[in-house]
Amino acid sequence: MAAEMALLKPISKFANTPRLAGPGAPSRPRFAAVRMSATAQPAAPKKPAKKANKQAIKETLLAPRFYTTDFDEMEQLFNTEINKNLNQDEFVALLQEFKTDYNQTHFVRNKEFKEAADKMQGPLRQIFVEFLERSCTAEFSGFLLYKELGRRLKKTNPVVAEIFSLMSRDEARHAGFLNKGLSDFNLALDLGFLTKARKYTFFKPKFIFYATYLSEKIGYWRYITIYRHLKENPEYQPYPIFKYFENWCQDENRHGDFFSALMKAQPQFLNDWKAKLWSRFFCLSVYVTMYLNDCQRTAFYEGIGLNTKEFDMHVIIETNRTTARIFPAVLDVENPEFKRKLDRMVEINTKLLAVGETEDIPLVKNLKRIPLIAALASELLAAYLMPPIESGSVDFAEFEPRLVY
Ligand SMILES: [Fe+2]
Ligand SMILES: [Fe+2]
Repeated sequence: MAAEMALLKPISKFANTPRLAGPGAPSRPRFAAVRMSATAQPAAPKKPAKKANKQAIKETLLAPRFYTTDFDEMEQLFNTEINKNLNQDEFVALLQEFKTDYNQTHFVRNKEFKEAADKMQGPLRQIFVEFLERSCTAEFSGFLLYKELGRRLKKTNPVVAEIFSLMSRDEARHAGFLNKGLSDFNLALDLGFLTKARKYTFFKPKFIFYATYLSEKIGYWRYITIYRHLKENPEYQPYPIFKYFENWCQDENRHGDFFSALMKAQPQFLNDWKAKLWSRFFCLSVYVTMYLNDCQRTAFYEGIGLNTKEFDMHVIIETNRTTARIFPAVLDVENPEFKRKLDRMVEINTKLLAVGETEDIPLVKNLKRIPLIAALASELLAAYLMPPIESGSVDFAEFEPRLVY
């Protein structure tokens, strides 16, 4: 699971950051603590050294989030007695695919990791640590959601439930591998603490499907693009983790294909005008979140030899083409006007961040933010209202999930 769903957080939760209204789903009670912490790796495992070298990571609109959903509704959706669209044969075939566990022995580290980490110094080291932390959080977010779905759907639909459990296995593996990477930098994310302390964003099942499908597919395109780039330009390979991305991203691709099959089993989420509006909304949210996030961290992408905006546009275009196979409408991201709008959002976001950095009192900061937030909202709306591309066709026969990679 990838990180790019952050803008989807419901609007009411924000005090001081640019906003995009979420689907208006109710939110679960907040936890008191919202800090994400990177802690020094404990010498003795019994007592995690939370106090030592604790590094607070800013909880921002664009940070990877944890999600929860209406599990009772999920149970109904996957009840074969109620939903006659469920193609159990297809899910059984997918389950076999997940059971094969292609990457069981893939995530094995070697001594290159620590050596590469020790060599990395200066600003790149800092930004690299942030990349590992954010990626680990995003993967872990998928683990938590899929694990719970696997648990809750066990009675209603054991096949679908087992697939969710196996996907949570994959995400745990990804998160664990990234966390091991952090240990090369003498850091570790306290995932137990995160599970309890982090706030969870609530989405209705339908929105979980759109958001998670996109998240998996955009994750696939990000990983494979970085992998191919570094294979061609090995002089930019700062750390061996990227060598694992080729097989790793196939996990994300399979996860996305499973969500594709889930949506096909719920045609009511794909075949009406509301589905088209939501599809475009989720595409926009995911693409804008990634673009703004990455443009804030351009040093990272430049550090591995990529042009951040070109990389992002490639990922957006490819994800959009993939998504067009299943969503009933997608954005016209290949229209140059779409990129111009994204670039204007980056400029506004930069100004918003600059306001946050000033010494002004909170009231003055908020006053300064108002016109910027209005400008950002207007760009978002204009991008949303650009003529969309009708897609999907709801002719599902063409879009059978690929069983061979
Ligand atoms: Fe993953
Ligand atoms: Fe995934």
